[in-house]
Order: sequence, then C-alpha cells, then structure tokens
Amino acid sequence: MSEVSLFNNKNALAQGWYVIARSTEVKKGRVIPKSLLGMNFAVFRTVSGKVGVMLGKCPHMGANVAYGRVEGESVVCPFHGMQYARDGKCTLLPSQPDAKDRFSATAFEVDERWGQIWFHLGKVPRYRLDVFHPQVNGMDQMLFSRSHYPLHHHVMIPNALDFVHFDVVHGMESSRFDFSQNELSLRADIKFELTERAPKIMKTFGIKSLELIFETFGANNYLVQIFQPYRMSFLTNYSPDGKGGTISSSAAFFPKKNKIFKLSGVPLMQRAFQMLFVNAFFADDTKVTSHIDFQPKFLPKDKYYIEFVKHCSRLKSWPEDY
Ligand code: FES
Ligand SMILES: [Fe+2]
Repeated sequence: MSEVSLFNNKNALAQGWYVIARSTEVKKGRVIPKSLLGMNFAVFRTVSGKVGVMLGKCPHMGANVAYGRVEGESVVCPFHGMQYARDGKCTLLPSQPDAKDRFSATAFEVDERWGQIWFHLGKVPRYRLDVFHPQVNGMDQMLFSRSHYPLHHHVMIPNALDFVHFDVVHGMESSRFDFSQNELSLRADIKFELTERAPKIMKTFGIKSLELIFETFGANNYLVQIFQPYRMSFLTNYSPDGKGGTISSSAAFFPKKNKIFKLSGVPLMQRAFQMLFVNAFFADDTKVTSHIDFQPKFLPKDKYYIEFVKHCSRLKSWPEDY
C-alpha cells in the first residue's frame, strides 16, 4: 500500500490506465508531446503503425524525445540522436554504438481501443482494458468531446455512489441501489424514479425512470451502462490537468440497430442524446462541484463514497511505488 495518501491528492498520481491521446492525433511515423500532472510524455506511432508512450525525458541528458522524430520502429531524441524502441530500449546510439545497452527510456504499456490511446502508468496493470469488452462489444461507438472539470477526479467519480445527492441535485430518487465491490472495481446497480425536480429535458422526453449500472475501475475509469429509458453506455477516463482539475475523455456506445438513430441521421441524434444525458448527469453536479472545498466529514449514509476512498488508498502511486 502506498505511503502517499492518494485520494483527492492533486500532487500524486495513482497507477492505472490513462487516456493520453486520441488515435487520430498520432499519425504513422509521428511523435507528439503530451503532459499529465506536469510530467512530459512522448506519444508516437511507428512506421508500421504501432503506438508507443514514454516519458518525454531522454535518459542521456533529459531532452524531451517528443520533439524528436520517428525512424522506423523507434523514436529519435532531438539532442544527440539516440533511438528508443516502444519498450524503451535504446536501439541506436550514434556517437558510441557499443554503449547503447546502458540506456533505456521509461516506457509504458499501451493499449489502443475505442479510438483512444491509453497507457498504463506503472509497471504491472491490475486489470486490462478488455474487462470492458463484454459490456460494449458489438455496439456502435462515438467519442465525446473532451470536457474539463475544476475538481479532482477522485471527487467526481463517486458521484454515482453518492445516492443522497441524486434526489437533491438531480431530482431522482433511487428505488433500487445495489452496491457491490471486489478488489478491482466498485459497482452500483441503480434504478431512479424521476421527481418533479428532474431536469426539464428528461421530462420533455417523457422519461419517468432510469436504470443503469455504474462501475468504476481503479481510481479514474468508469463504465455506465444505461438500460432504461434507452440502451447506451459511456466509458469515461479521467486524467488530472496538473492544476487540481480533471480532463474527461468519454466513448459512448449505442446498440447497433437503434431505430431512433436509423430514422434520423446518426450524428445529429447521437449528439442530442449526448446532451440529454450529459446534461442530466453532470450540469447540475457542476453547479455544486465547481464551488467545493472538499474536506469531508462523512456520515454513515456516505458509506459507498467511503468505500471508494478506501479503494483509492489501496492503489499504488506513481512513481513512488513504481
Ligand atoms: S539527450 Fe537524448 S540523446 Fe542526448
Ligand atoms: Fe450527480
């Protein structure tokens, strides 16, 4: 267990899977710079199309390899031309070829799925991204625009576990709230009945209840499967912006033969749904959470929230526990 108190700590990062770029941002044979919590990363795609993510700090003299270039299957440091493969191994040291084995860049495991490039911060992943496959397989997928929130993602994720706020903030009363957890994830199977104070747009659509399963993995990924009133899912990744805020990247999944989308021209209707649900779930939250100084004194009813805090404390931090 980590010595660092990870929960809501804006100066620490939990090990886990983070989205670092969209697939379309990283063209074949190119490298781009990205940052996460003030650290620089190089994200590159080799000539054969494989993606690599490494710290943007060359082990020789610290130049950011993200400002270099790609040569074949390696990325080339812009300073003295050392080349690194996707696993971080130095493949060429032009000035002293016999010394190349002494150098390796800090490289990460990469997974490219659902239009996004994910990397695992830390050495050995506790889970693989294919845990989400059974729930989203065979569905149509679209990426949402990225959003920014002014608070730590650890405070945002348990929103769905904070069942008291649903009534107050969203005008939804839970008639079912089945919570379960294992060492990797926390899950809530929820049915909401909409009250008078529910978002107008939901009433306009004649929605009376919502049924969904919320499941969070690690400290920064969650899947929401909505079953009622319409089948759709969101897979959301949160990354810290380096200033205590959060950048969210979401993929939405829709049933392949959704009649509504077929009738109406897919992108427009999907956008409308995005607005509907994102509004319903987040807009009212943001009014509260943009003005929050989160130093909780929990109540017994906050028990699921507390489970999430405990869950975070069991994760390893990076780089301390690397
Ligand atoms: S700093 Fe990268 S090769 Fe010298
Ligand atoms: Fe909420």
